[in-house]
Amino acid sequence: MSESFLFPEQLGAYYARVAVREFPLLTRLREETAKLPSAGMQIAAEEGQFLDLLIRLIGARRCVEVGVFTGYSSLVTALALPADGFLLACDINPQTTAIARRYWAEAGVADRVRLELAPAVQTLDAELAKGEGHYDFAFIDADKTGYLDYYERCLRLLRPGGLIAVDNTLWSGSVADPRQRDPDTQAIRAFNDHVRADQRVDFCLVPIADGVTLARKR
Ligand SMILES: C[S@@+](CC[C@H](N)C(=O)[O-])C[C@H]1O[C@@H](n2cnc3c(N)ncnc32)[C@H](O)[C@@H]1O
Repeated sequence: MSESFLFPEQLGAYYARVAVREFPLLTRLREETAKLPSAGMQIAAEEGQFLDLLIRLIGARRCVEVGVFTGYSSLVTALALPADGFLLACDINPQTTAIARRYWAEAGVADRVRLELAPAVQTLDAELAKGEGHYDFAFIDADKTGYLDYYERCLRLLRPGGLIAVDNTLWSGSVADPRQRDPDTQAIRAFNDHVRADQRVDFCLVPIADGVTLARKR
């Protein structure tokens, strides 16, 4: 577990010890990613475990992910899917996603993942052109100013009862600090207000890792 702004130090250490049971290949991916300057973009181990549980709980077969980076959350997703499951993985970075591809292959799940290297709005719109309501689960974890665009598209892609998980919705606490007026913080505040008012979904902002908002399509 990375250091958390949500826990006092002692409880954080206890939580890290008892709450996380990480698949060895995911640990290796975390260690490899830690060497990159952008390592902070990777989701926390406890969040990966949470996503794994959600995907299994809803029996998801078709998933979409916006923001792959080196592949931690996509590997979690692909491993949680049944053998005939499918993940549409969206990113724009060929270098970091080359690492992801390597881990999907090593885990034996590469055939479940289709990586699209293009702005995610473009990929999601192309998918929507094929039809709506044919996905079970979506994970949004890319540029924060795009969150509303991704959420609206993913909602249309989901079946009723499908689930969207959105990362970083507490943004290390910046969202609660009125002095923080940067575009990312503002975008996350706008996103949080939007979901709370959205009667098309049941929702919960779960204070795990950097905040994960769950929205279930009604
Ligand atoms: C926070 S990282 C994702 C972390 C990843 N979920 C993980 O578990 O390691 C955000 C990713 O979003 C990608 N990204 C940024 N803008 C994007 C866009 N317009 N379309 C698709 N991906 C984008 C970045 O290239 C980066 O890899």
